[in-house]
Amino acid sequence: MNNKGAGEGGRSLLKQLCAVRPVDPQESAGASRLKQVLGPWALTSIGLGATIGTGIFVLTGQVAATQSGPAITLSLLIAAFGSMLAALCYSEFAAFLPVPGSAYRYTYATLGEALAWFIGWNLLLEYAISASTVAVSWSAYVVNLLGDAHIHLPAALVNAPLRLDAHEHLVRSGALINLPAALIVLAMTWVLYVGVSESARANTLMVTLKVAIIVIVVIAGLKYVDPANFHPYIPPNTGHFGHFGISGVLQGAGIIFFSYVGFDTASTMALEARNPQRDLPLGILGALAISAVLYIAMSSVLVGLVPFHELNVAAPVAVAIDRHPQLAWLSWPVKVGVIVGMTSVILTSLLGQPRILLSMADDGLLPDSMARCHPRFKTPHVSTIITGLGAALIAAIFPLEVLADLVSIGILLAFGVVCLGVLVLRRTRPDVHRPFRVPWAPVTCTLGFVVCCGLTLTLSNGTWVRLLVWTIIGMSIYGIYGFRHSRLRR
Ligand code: ALA
Repeated sequence: MNNKGAGEGGRSLLKQLCAVRPVDPQESAGASRLKQVLGPWALTSIGLGATIGTGIFVLTGQVAATQSGPAITLSLLIAAFGSMLAALCYSEFAAFLPVPGSAYRYTYATLGEALAWFIGWNLLLEYAISASTVAVSWSAYVVNLLGDAHIHLPAALVNAPLRLDAHEHLVRSGALINLPAALIVLAMTWVLYVGVSESARANTLMVTLKVAIIVIVVIAGLKYVDPANFHPYIPPNTGHFGHFGISGVLQGAGIIFFSYVGFDTASTMALEARNPQRDLPLGILGALAISAVLYIAMSSVLVGLVPFHELNVAAPVAVAIDRHPQLAWLSWPVKVGVIVGMTSVILTSLLGQPRILLSMADDGLLPDSMARCHPRFKTPHVSTIITGLGAALIAAIFPLEVLADLVSIGILLAFGVVCLGVLVLRRTRPDVHRPFRVPWAPVTCTLGFVVCCGLTLTLSNGTWVRLLVWTIIGMSIYGIYGFRHSRLRR
């Protein structure tokens, strides 16, 4: 009898955890606590703003030096392929379910509440934690630029107090705080508090500058590319998984995946888009396509300018340029451009996060206060402040490598689930009108799921352990708060 009761209790709990929030294509209609001001260019620009940053300006060099060699371009292509499959799936969802919760809400509509919470929690990695990650490399570039001007800040105030040791354990580094990283996050939070049109305008300016810098480096650098630097294209494996060879290219793809994180940011802006059904797919696919082309061009020039093993530095683009005296005129503009480019990533990543929190709070999974919008600025000001403070704290404490790999693994899993979600919804709701449809959905979505989840397997054990800790924290919050307050089940 007891066993039967326990069995029924277990089944009922499972049913509750898998509760699916029905799809209502009208749910965003009239939901305008926010201003609907964004057109296709602004949405693409928001995607580019969130995408082009630390990945291309810092990680490309480091991955080339330690994992892929000149085949970094191949790693970038593999990561772009996985991202493209996910982008198609995002576009189908975003066009017929234009709500700010993005992958969280798509999962809620297809695979149930517990998994939706897990994805929402992982989206924190994509937005808030990726803002912290980029702030850390922003700080390194600013310190480097100030150093060029003979202004030297105390090392204890510009470095993370934690670092990874040789066994991938977090240990004290001796520094106190990464102050510039925390300050830039707080400054961008303020810009976002004040208004979305102001933020979008500032972002468009910054995006124009960073794209221009990449184009100039590619055109100017092309002349000095040494074909000998491409031989061997895939350096032989050193005997360890992920250190060159094919496994290096694959692990490189998993790590460099970070550089594509953010292309889907337009999907969080559904309530502020003028014509979301048409413009969200344009914004998502446009941002991914433009960044992939720029990345492959830029990384080819980078590994062509200097031997790849010299690129394991905090500012690989600057190192490659400095190696060629004829390119000296580019040194300062590139550093300034990179700093501005990273600023736009921080801004737009912090823009996406509060909208996901808002969506989760609307569903009762987070406190109602997170859904509150400012009466005058029409921004989700409470969740903006909470996101900003949290991201600033993380930026002040953790080193780049810990954060970047955690973001990549979390987002790869989220993308995999979105691909699966499209398939599920095609079966459960074949009737809803889909303004955008994934071509050859069964193949595209399955491949998207396999590629994204497959890339997570190439990442280090330490990254998996950190993801596990992150997930346990997230699921505990769900158990303590979200599960009890869910509007759907109440
Ligand atoms: N993709 C973003 C970057 O590379 C997060 O900075």
